[in-house]
Amino acid sequence: MSSLVIDDLSIRFGGIKALDGLTLSVEPGQICGLIGPNGAGKTTLFNCVSRVYQPTSGTITWDGSDLLAVPAHGIARHGVSRTFQNLGLFPSMTFLENTMVGAHPYGRTGFVRSILSWGVRQEERRIRREAYELLEFLDLGHLAFEPAAGQPFGTLKRLELARALAARPRLLLLDEPAGGLTHAEVDELAETIRHVRDEKGLSVLLVEHHMGMVMGISDTVVAMNFGKKITEGTPAEVRRHPEVVSAYLGTRA
Ligand SMILES: Nc1ncnc2c1ncn2[C@@H]1O[C@H](COP(=O)(O)OP(=O)(O)OP(=O)(O)O)[C@@H](O)[C@H]1O
Ligand SMILES: [Mg+2]
Repeated sequence: MSSLVIDDLSIRFGGIKALDGLTLSVEPGQICGLIGPNGAGKTTLFNCVSRVYQPTSGTITWDGSDLLAVPAHGIARHGVSRTFQNLGLFPSMTFLENTMVGAHPYGRTGFVRSILSWGVRQEERRIRREAYELLEFLDLGHLAFEPAAGQPFGTLKRLELARALAARPRLLLLDEPAGGLTHAEVDELAETIRHVRDEKGLSVLLVEHHMGMVMGISDTVVAMNFGKKITEGTPAEVRRHPEVVSAYLGTRA
């Protein structure tokens, strides 16, 4: 089992310090909730871990290796997978095809095997079978051959989760998975994320504004603002912290 260690991470965009010496870690198999107001730097952190952004300074270690030495296209091979704050699906593709897209980095078909089309077909069949199993695991099996376009938002959020899981990650980064969902859908998704973690033994970094969900499923919570950590601890500890109460929740606990 591996852990994610982020140490003294900073990144600047012009005059803005989007991350300012941020330090946090996610223990193996744990769900770490990341909360903070708009512009706190949560998505920027995800973009650094998934290698979309190059931090100005600091380190990111995953599974004992230096993640900053890994190019963005190599991140999935290191067992890291993410979802996006705004859906990143292909509307005209079916649920099965969208899920299979996520499996691509895991495909082992190399140059030599790709010449042998039998190898490709075998690989394709395996990816297709696993994608279908994932859709069933997430109660989306009945939609496998339907296009993503026109489906309810909550359903598409689950599809995005299926696609992230198709890469067989050991670290899952979820950026506001509950955004735009109804109360019932949020509860269902929370249950699903916990189930996924339990069944697949993943570590999860969960960015979410929905307090009930973060506090309900996280093992630890990190609160941040202005690119810095305000506090961390159990959900109960963090929700009591005075700076969290005033800076984020906006009400007295
Ligand atoms: N590519 C970029 N260029 C310039 N500024 C950026 C860029 N990406 C992020 N920022 C800035 O960095 C800060 C942190 O943004 P970020 O998107 O990480 O916030 P967030 O915590 O995810 O907020 P939200 O809850 O609204 O999603 C903001 O001030 C944002 O404008
Ligand atoms: Mg964000």
